Amino acid sequence: MTISKRKREHVDIALNRDVAFRNKTSGFEAWDFVHCALPETAFDAVDTRVEFLGRGLSFPFMVSAMTGGFRGAADINRRLAEVCQAEKIALGVGSQRQAFENGRHLETFRVVRRLAPDIPVVGNIGASEIVRLTDFSPVERMVELVAADAMAVHLNPLQELLQPEGNRDFSGVLAAIGRLAAGLSVPLIVKEVGCGVSADTARRLVEAGVSWIDVAGAGGTSWTGIESHRGGGRGRMAGVFWDWGIPTAESIRMVRSVPGAAVIASGGIRNGLEAAKAVALGAELCGAAMPVLKSLDAGPGGLVRLVSEWRDQFRAVLYLTGSRACADLRRPGVLRRTKAEAP
Ligand SMILES: Cc1cc2nc3c(=O)[nH]c(=O)nc-3n(C[C@H](O)[C@H](O)[C@H](O)COP(=O)(O)O)c2cc1C
Repeated sequence: MTISKRKREHVDIALNRDVAFRNKTSGFEAWDFVHCALPETAFDAVDTRVEFLGRGLSFPFMVSAMTGGFRGAADINRRLAEVCQAEKIALGVGSQRQAFENGRHLETFRVVRRLAPDIPVVGNIGASEIVRLTDFSPVERMVELVAADAMAVHLNPLQELLQPEGNRDFSGVLAAIGRLAAGLSVPLIVKEVGCGVSADTARRLVEAGVSWIDVAGAGGTSWTGIESHRGGGRGRMAGVFWDWGIPTAESIRMVRSVPGAAVIASGGIRNGLEAAKAVALGAELCGAAMPVLKSLDAGPGGLVRLVSEWRDQFRAVLYLTGSRACADLRRPGVLRRTKAEAP
């Protein structure tokens, strides 16, 4: 199976099959904002803007890594780049592994920076790839390919375990991440793909020199789901591990507790209210993959509509909690726990 074919299958399955977690949520329902009946500001005066990687965003949101490296990916990435540039949100490209191996689909990545000159763009590569490298010049080439402001390394041990062609040995990954963090020309982001990051993992990453951690927690897209629809899933493994992982809300709190870790929250964030809860729980920025892909697929204007709805909902939370700017969401007493997080 070529990497291009696999990347195309991931998009097809994500769009056409049910791959959501089944009996586990991202955990945001356990939290509620404390309503402020006296906001003492105007809705339009609320400032949702933040800076990320030295560039301005209209609100703390990024399109999570999805695709590149097959023919249809050029069109997806072109449309993502156009909307992200117009709406001033960040964009993570999908795994650039295919571009490591041959030059056939470089345009599917190049198109992003060409159409989105002003926003933060994040490159992407898997832990399994970097562990094999003896020097990091191929990763620098991936940075150059999208003129990335940061490079994300994805940790996906469960996905690899379930893939028929997957890598079942994660030895040496932390040391490779440490070397990359020290040597790369841009900041490193370490992300999961839907199973979350624990406090202990975050601590080891920070000690290795990483500061940005995207929790990509459980409760949204299940990669066990995607891989089992690809015919992998190693038989009965898939059913048992469909809901594996740390719910996103819990993972944010775990990673935030580690000094030196800056949190990006993703995994099952499905509206602007949940994005605001993620920020209130300690994230600097939120991300989503599946809803973005589906809105893009829904036709012209779908993604612009999604982004402006989420931004309006996010702004409404600031207004209705008496917050004037994003950081105000983190002041004490804004968010309260209403029930134990879902199992
Ligand atoms: C079609 C698709 C392809 C993805 N490809 C990648 C990838 O190449 N690299 C990566 O780090 N994450 C990848 N992801 C994972 C997302 O970045 C994200 O972490 C995960 O889907 C959880 O977010 P969600 O619940 O909003 O979908 C992909 C997700 C989807 C839906």
